[in-house]
Amino acid sequence: MSSLPICIGVDVGTSGTKAIAMDIRGAVLASALREYPLASPKAGWAEQDPADWRRAVLEALTELAAKVDSRAVVAIGLTGQMHGSVFLDAENKVLRPALLWCDQRTAEQCETITEKAGGEAALVAMVANPALTGFTAPKILWLRDNEPELFEKTRKVLLPKDYIRWVLTGEYATDVADASGTLLFDVRNRCWHKGLMSKLDLDPSLMPRAFEGTEITGSLLPEIASQTGLPAGIPVAAGGGDQAAGGVGCGIVRPGIVSSSLGTSGVVFAFSDGVHADPKGRVHTFCHAVPGKWHVMGVMLSAGGALQWYRNTLCHEEMHQAKSSARDAYTYITDQAQTVSCGAEGLLFLPYLTGERTPHRDPFAKAAFVGLSLRHTKAHMARAVMEGVAFGMRDSLDIMREMGIPLEVSRVSGGGGRSELWRQILADTGRIEIAQINVDEGPAFGAAILAGVGAGHFKSVEEACDNIIKETHRIPVIEENAVCYESYLQEFRACYTVLKGGFQRMAEIVG
Ligand code: XUL
Repeated sequence: MSSLPICIGVDVGTSGTKAIAMDIRGAVLASALREYPLASPKAGWAEQDPADWRRAVLEALTELAAKVDSRAVVAIGLTGQMHGSVFLDAENKVLRPALLWCDQRTAEQCETITEKAGGEAALVAMVANPALTGFTAPKILWLRDNEPELFEKTRKVLLPKDYIRWVLTGEYATDVADASGTLLFDVRNRCWHKGLMSKLDLDPSLMPRAFEGTEITGSLLPEIASQTGLPAGIPVAAGGGDQAAGGVGCGIVRPGIVSSSLGTSGVVFAFSDGVHADPKGRVHTFCHAVPGKWHVMGVMLSAGGALQWYRNTLCHEEMHQAKSSARDAYTYITDQAQTVSCGAEGLLFLPYLTGERTPHRDPFAKAAFVGLSLRHTKAHMARAVMEGVAFGMRDSLDIMREMGIPLEVSRVSGGGGRSELWRQILADTGRIEIAQINVDEGPAFGAAILAGVGAGHFKSVEEACDNIIKETHRIPVIEENAVCYESYLQEFRACYTVLKGGFQRMAEIVG
């Protein structure tokens, strides 16, 4: 057992909560995972019960405390799925299931917000971002419009990891990165935008106090300490939304280094010294978990999720094969894709299975295979899915290039980043070198680093990342492939433009 101080990072994710224990050299000593369900009571709705997060976090912390020298634990950092809304009454009772980041029910409230702000340009000038269905402010307005009796009782609106903070410390607090995703935060000045809240007729006391990612927001309550086996009174750092904490966990703390994460969603994340907002609102501009810094990110709603859909829907044979071997189904699928050349012989895949944020901002966008012919096999389809996701990531990179954000190398993370083929496709389609790093623990790792800085064990986030996170391998762009992809990219982009109206009409037909 390590005698070095230990920091815990807790990631309240969408499919489960992951907690890790990291010593201050950056070694991960133990991790624990607890899963929970996601409910979709109506098409386009996505909800979770905060009681499930609470149970998962307490169980994961108990498991960690038993696996390490718990007396050496010096701090906890929190991260989690962004944008979700936990509505608490005056007795801190959760009033209804939380609406999640991927919930699409708030199109009408987004229009109201834009109108009350004085138009989209005015809104972007206030909070650096346009109104998107996933963000928190439209969820609050949805509650007021549709469940007014619950809205009347609401005294606090907390983001998912901040509800857990309240459970662990009894404090209402958030961090500036997660607060940025509410659409009620003055991203430039790193404080709540009271002017916008007044235009929307929302009481500022609904929102918790916002801290920089490394600041300490409270300490572990004695009853939680005795329940989990962790030391009472240890500090709990603000942490960050999962993207900002994930950025820290990949060392995206200086200009030029970006990350490409292929989880269920796909995110291109860039560090920024100043506030760069895209006037067209295609990428998000949020505060970073690094104090005094910002980040810009393009978010695709289905990235690894698209290949997962392909596997679950069309690859039963591969899944069956995987069961009786030591390999997983994705290895069979990517081996097939490897047999096909760049561009999958003219087969394109639009990856918009759950609508899209970047670049289209279109909740009605749909996925499509375009260009199927008798020649095409499942190998082509697998390759087209991987390439379609990579073209979507390229869209984010190009918007950032247009905004003048320096892009030198992209560090790959997430489940999809484990595929050698997908990493090469990302390099060739994005025209950017892809780097692999020595850690792959995601946002929980970044949250542990933020906690370590907050508790005084590292001088700064930058210093901690420089000491702990190292590049292990770089994948250069293969020029011949990059040239081939340029032509396909034009067609990929044209397909969405042509199909967009049809997607909208089909949504009306389906109802
Ligand atoms: C970021 C976003 C997702 C969620 C879920 O804007 O919506 O990354 O945080 O992980």
